Amino acid sequence: MPSVELFIPKAELADMMWSVPPPSIEDAAKVHDVTKVDHPAALPGVLETLAKAYPDALCHTLPRGSPLFPSLPGKYTDILLTSGDKTLAVTDAYLLPALQRARLTKTEAEITAIRQANQISSRAHEVVMRVLGAAVRGAITKAKGAGVSRPLLPGEWLIEKEAEAEAIFVASCRREGSVHQAYLPIVAASTRASTLHYCCNDREFAWGPVKPHDHHNGNDFAHSDKHLDPQVLLIDAGCEWNCYASDITRTMPVGNGGKFTPEARAIYELVLEMQKESMKLLKPGLHWDDVQLLCHRVLIKGFQALGIFKSPSSPGSGSWNSAEAILASGISSAFFPHGVGHSLGMDVHDVPEASKPAVNPTIQIGETKGHESFYSFLRLRLPLEKNMVVTVEPGCYFSPHLIAPVRDSKHINLDVLKRYEGVGGVRIEDVILITEEGYENLTTVLSDVAWIEGVCSGEL
Ligand code: GLY
Ligand code: MN
Ligand code: MN
Repeated sequence: MPSVELFIPKAELADMMWSVPPPSIEDAAKVHDVTKVDHPAALPGVLETLAKAYPDALCHTLPRGSPLFPSLPGKYTDILLTSGDKTLAVTDAYLLPALQRARLTKTEAEITAIRQANQISSRAHEVVMRVLGAAVRGAITKAKGAGVSRPLLPGEWLIEKEAEAEAIFVASCRREGSVHQAYLPIVAASTRASTLHYCCNDREFAWGPVKPHDHHNGNDFAHSDKHLDPQVLLIDAGCEWNCYASDITRTMPVGNGGKFTPEARAIYELVLEMQKESMKLLKPGLHWDDVQLLCHRVLIKGFQALGIFKSPSSPGSGSWNSAEAILASGISSAFFPHGVGHSLGMDVHDVPEASKPAVNPTIQIGETKGHESFYSFLRLRLPLEKNMVVTVEPGCYFSPHLIAPVRDSKHINLDVLKRYEGVGGVRIEDVILITEEGYENLTTVLSDVAWIEGVCSGEL
C-alpha cells in the first residue's frame, strides 16, 4: 500500500485574526484519504528519513518555475538533492501529465460531489423557470410600499432582465450551500443567445411596443400596451460543490405566455433530438468524434425537413443537396459551430491537456467523418471510458457573423432561413456519467418541451 502524507498549515495567531483557521490535524485526517496529516515543520525530517531509506528513488514534483503551481521551496528540495553521498534524482516531467490523465476518470467521491453540484444547479434552473411562470400567471404581487418606500423583497422580483434571471439562479445555489459558480453564468435573451459564451448578462428582455434595451421598465406592468416580445432565454449556468463543477444549459420561452413560437419550438425540438440521439450511443469504447458527427447528421436532416437546407427534391435542386453532400461541405458548422461536449470535473472544461491527443490515429477526416470544421472546437477527442464525466451539449444558432459567409450557399433556402434567424439560438446541456453499460444523466432538471412550456407558462 502506498503511504500518503499531507502537510497542512499550522494555525498562526495573525492568520486567525484575518480569517478562519485551517483545519486541525485531526479534522483534516477525517476528510482526506491519506495515511497521515502533519504540519510543514515535520516535513524536513520526513524527507531526510525517506532520502536515506531510498537513495535510488526518483522524486516527482509539479512543474517548477511555472506560475500555475507553487514550487516546493528550496529548503525542502535541497534535502533531497544533497542527501548522503548520492544525489537523488528529482523530475517534474511526469507528475502533472499523470495527474491530468488520472483526472479523466472519476472516483466515487468525485462523482458524489459532481452529482450534488448538478442537483443544486438543476433546482436553480427550475426556480428561474418557475418565477417566469408565476409572473405569467400573475402570481407575483407587490405588497404596500414595494419599490416605493422600501426595496422589493425576493418574492416580489419579476424576471425582466438577464441580470434578474442570473441573480435568482445564483441566489438559489447559494441558499443550498454552494459557495461558487463553476464559471460565469451565460444568461442570454433573444438573439443574444447566438453568442456562445455571452456573459454580459446586462440587457433587458426584448419588449414590444417599447424599444428593447431602454432600461426603464423598473418592474412596472402598468402600461397596458407594453408586453414581452416572444423570445428565448438561454441560461448556461452551474455551481460548484466541494470544488467540483456542474455545467447545465436550458433554453426557455419568454413572452408569448411562456410558450415557444413555432420557429423556436422547431429548433428546440431539433436540438433535443441531437442530444437524445447522442445519448443513445454513449458507452465505454465509443469515440467522442462519433457523437460530434452524429449531431451534424441530425441537424442536417432537421434543417432539410424544415426547408432551411434544400433537399435533392427541392425545386431546381439535385443530388448536390443530398444530406451526405451537405455534410461533406461543412456548412452545418455555421449553425452548430462548437463541440458537443467536454470532460468535466474540478474544472468545468476539465483537463484539456489529457482530452485531446496531438495525433489522433483513429480519425480520418473524409467522406465518413464529415468535414474537418466539425472538430475545430471539440474539446474531447478520445474513446469514452467508464467513470468519465462529460457534458452533452448540442446547439443550433443563427449568428449573423457565422451566417454571413454561407448566406448565398446553394444548400440554403434564404427565405426559410430568414424566418428562423430571430430565434437566436438554442442549447441544451446535461452532465453525463459514463457507466459500464452506458450512461447515467446526473442533471435532474427536465428538458422536454411539454415540461419547459408548462413551467414557464405557469401551468405546471
Ligand atoms: N459553460 C461552458 C460550456 O458549456 O462549455
Ligand atoms: Mn459545457
Ligand atoms: Mn455550459
